[in-house]
Amino acid sequence: MSTPFLSVRDLRVHFSTEDGVVKAVDGLDFDLEQGKTLGIVGESGSGKSVTNLAILGLHHKDSTAIGGEILLDGQELLTATERELERLRGNKMAMIFQDALASLSPYHTIGRQIGETYRKHTGASKKEARARSIEMLTKVGIPQPDLRVDDYPHQFSGGMRQRAMIAMSLVCNPTLLIADEPTTALDVTVQAQIMDLLKDLQQEFGTSIIFITHDLGVIADIATTSS
Ligand SMILES: Nc1ncnc2c1ncn2[C@@H]1O[C@H](COP(=O)(O)OP(=O)(O)O)[C@@H](O)[C@H]1O
Ligand SMILES: [Mg+2]
Repeated sequence: MSTPFLSVRDLRVHFSTEDGVVKAVDGLDFDLEQGKTLGIVGESGSGKSVTNLAILGLHHKDSTAIGGEILLDGQELLTATERELERLRGNKMAMIFQDALASLSPYHTIGRQIGETYRKHTGASKKEARARSIEMLTKVGIPQPDLRVDDYPHQFSGGMRQRAMIAMSLVCNPTLLIADEPTTALDVTVQAQIMDLLKDLQQEFGTSIIFITHDLGVIADIATTSS
């Protein structure tokens, strides 16, 4: 077996609240190899999102005690500085959420939002970023991408918004993609299309994927291993 690309050891995420300490995650271990998919299944409130926010370094530092070890491609994330994490987020690791509408800004075009992420990490010009946005919209199967790039999120259907968010998360070719219940809000046929799309993109880019769901049927379809 090759060295795991992502290795989580004895992860603990404890929140201090007015009612005491909430042990949302308490002693979690898993490994993920390059280009593979790890399925995480669990009931609502079982700590799935909390785990992934810990990997991305998105918990509030003052009210959250995080212990254990998270190694991404040999780099320890729990001791990384905010600056290092910012460089990794969107670039080396990216996340897609359940609710694309809430994650996209209503005030900026789809193309601008995909392009901004790209510019932030590559220093590309606006023109290059627009071309890259159109390229990504093409890859995720948006029809007439050269026109739809100028649409606002409300002009997209739910399935198209989810595709746009996938395009945004993959625009810098991240090596780790965390998909947190990405199809839960979509109807069954669109769900199937999004799953196929993720598989195709994984083949093309060799992305490692953490796929979170509460639906065992969905996990059977996509995961190489599950825990
Ligand atoms: N910032 C927080 N402060 C206190 N408790 C939290 C916080 N974030 C999440 N929790 C609690 O941690 C548990 C796990 O939440 P979460 O990971 O979001 O569940 P899910 O598996 O549905 O994604 C829940 O009981 C939730 O209420
Ligand atoms: Mg969740």
